[in-house]
Amino acid sequence: MPANRTVLLLPGDGIGPEVVGQARRVLEWVAAKRRFAVACDEDLVGGASIDAHGVPLTDATLAKAKAADAVLLGAVGGPKWDALPFDRKPERGLLALRKELGLFANLRPAICLPALAGASTLKEEVVAGLDILIVRELTGGVYFGTPRGIETLPDGSRRGVNTQVYTTGEIRRVAAVAFELARKRGRKVCSTEKSNVMESGILWREEVQKLRDEAYTDVALSHMYADNCAMQLVRAPKQFDIIVTDNLFGDILSDEAAMLTGSLGMLPSASLGAADRDGRRAALYEPVHGSAPDIAGQGIANPLAAILSLAMMMRYSFGRDDDADMIERAVGRVLDSGLRTGDIMQSGKTKISTEAMGTAIVEVLQGLAA
Ligand code: IPM
Ligand code: MG
Repeated sequence: MPANRTVLLLPGDGIGPEVVGQARRVLEWVAAKRRFAVACDEDLVGGASIDAHGVPLTDATLAKAKAADAVLLGAVGGPKWDALPFDRKPERGLLALRKELGLFANLRPAICLPALAGASTLKEEVVAGLDILIVRELTGGVYFGTPRGIETLPDGSRRGVNTQVYTTGEIRRVAAVAFELARKRGRKVCSTEKSNVMESGILWREEVQKLRDEAYTDVALSHMYADNCAMQLVRAPKQFDIIVTDNLFGDILSDEAAMLTGSLGMLPSASLGAADRDGRRAALYEPVHGSAPDIAGQGIANPLAAILSLAMMMRYSFGRDDDADMIERAVGRVLDSGLRTGDIMQSGKTKISTEAMGTAIVEVLQGLAA
């Protein structure tokens, strides 16, 4: 079979290589058993790239990422590189990938699987059945706005500056992604900003509303201040379907939403660019969890977020919804059977390793495909 699609794996640091290794096994299973002609390449990012090349992302790796149909990233960062200057840190590699690939729409689902409803720190009735999607703007706002920097003032004191900035186009393109996805879900979008304090928030609210009135009148749109949204997420999270928000609020709210589901180790994400004339978009998939240096190298990390990120890749980059559904179903079945990695361990369940979790997923897939 000719390999007409390409995937670049960037395992990165900490538990990244362990969890991406298991996702790779699932990808290879899909390639072999579901007739998906794909070629896989692997490269370094983050601290691993700093150690080998002195920078968190080389031009060659960036070029590979641009050429690939999809990128699967593990995680970046760790204490080993904490002392490096800000602009050489592992995280800069990830931020450069997002910016250079134009990945402006970050999709972070927070789904509470029945088998894990008891693992949340919130009451089971508050989170059971939760299925929300945060659409976070990823290439603008205070993360990239200028002026930025730290300067020393004439009196010797220092001043740190970052700039929150959004243009009409940046707001509309991410809002459009949220509205399009809403049509495939509950047709309900909540837009979140701080228009009571920030001009960029006023613009955000006005532009999202305008776009909805122009092109998406079939979708219900509400607006909420970000602080209230943070509160509502723990008070009554099931009131939401899709939340669309800026880069910084999205960073914070998506961590909060992740915790509702019982484990950060379970949550995938997709970061998408604009579609070209053929409908193809640059895309990077990554687990929401970090590099977890405290448990790295022990073979105990949860690979399910990486595997679910692969499922998102099948859906959004390759239009292979059946494969995505099958992978997601396999994750549910394995959890129902009582297998758990340490992070989601509950009494009466069976604790297994990263690799054993990957094996269990492939075995269930085998059964589902038979
Ligand atoms: C995330 C992370 C990153 C971010 C860090 C690692 C730069 O927290 O993907 O949410 O702040 O965007
Ligand atoms: Mg974050």
